[in-house]
Amino acid sequence: MPWRVSPADRAAGVRPDPYRVWLSEVMLQQTTVAAVKDYFHRFTARWPTVADLAAAHDDAVMGEWAGLGYYARARNLLKCARAVVADHGGVFPTTREGLLGLPGIGPYTASAVAAIAYDEAAVVVDGNVERVMARYFAVEQPLPLAKPALTALAARLTPHHRPGDYAQAVMDLGATICTPRNPACGICPWMAECAARAQGIAAELPRKLPKGDKPVRHGTVWIVRQGDGFVLERRAERGLLGGMRGFPGDGWDGAGGEAPVAAKWHEAGEVRHTFTHFHLYLRLMVADVPVGAPLLRGVWVPRAEFRPGDLPTVMRKAWDMASAAFVPR
Ligand code: ADE
Repeated sequence: MPWRVSPADRAAGVRPDPYRVWLSEVMLQQTTVAAVKDYFHRFTARWPTVADLAAAHDDAVMGEWAGLGYYARARNLLKCARAVVADHGGVFPTTREGLLGLPGIGPYTASAVAAIAYDEAAVVVDGNVERVMARYFAVEQPLPLAKPALTALAARLTPHHRPGDYAQAVMDLGATICTPRNPACGICPWMAECAARAQGIAAELPRKLPKGDKPVRHGTVWIVRQGDGFVLERRAERGLLGGMRGFPGDGWDGAGGEAPVAAKWHEAGEVRHTFTHFHLYLRLMVADVPVGAPLLRGVWVPRAEFRPGDLPTVMRKAWDMASAAFVPR
């Protein structure tokens, strides 16, 4: 993983760069290592230091983040970078406590950065670690009730020697061997100590309280071509896809709204996308309107400045389907 310092380099005195550790940890929340790698390379090539990132234009950062999801992370990323520069002289605080004082840094990120970048014996608990602990100690209590108990058990195992390597090793164990289904117990370095393995119940843990199925929401987006451009709208800072650009829409995010322009609309299909808390079925309406037709919402963006890759995934899916509906000019 590009943000890691190898044991050999570490032994030779190389220290992990807290900026890169922090950036990778924020990206890795809710996202797999495979999906993060390219984003990490692009971010660090474009903004090699926290000061570079702090000085970046919001739109540039949101654009680079497009596709990673959970866009509040990108907005918090910028807030945090700017706080490091404004309040800490461009240097990350060097303790978990200090890191917790930064905007957007919660207990997980503070612990992970403190452990990995500064070798503080902080207790790092993500979903992988919870699963490993539930199995190692054969915790029968279901999630999410078991969270505090699993954190306490994780603390018992956290070593003072190389806590950063330890934290990453347990996360790797969870990601590669102690997997949710079909754990590879036969090659696990903790096979002998694992209580769930001894009882033959590793694959059944952690238990989970049943959660209701996700509801389905229905909505509409309007994709308008006007001359050599399209109509986009910046979404509200708070809420779903906050601060991202997208096509004007209605009926799915609670914000409501009208069609952005009077037009003869055609239905161009339906896009389906799953968010954390709901499935979305989005009806695509497309129209060509003359240059000069007054817009009721959104802004006209020339095609040359409209980068579909900078849109959040659901809007990119909408674009991919709708763009085929326009007669080429
Ligand atoms: N998941 C989140 N952060 C990680 C890390 N540093 N190593 C492995 N998996 C992770």
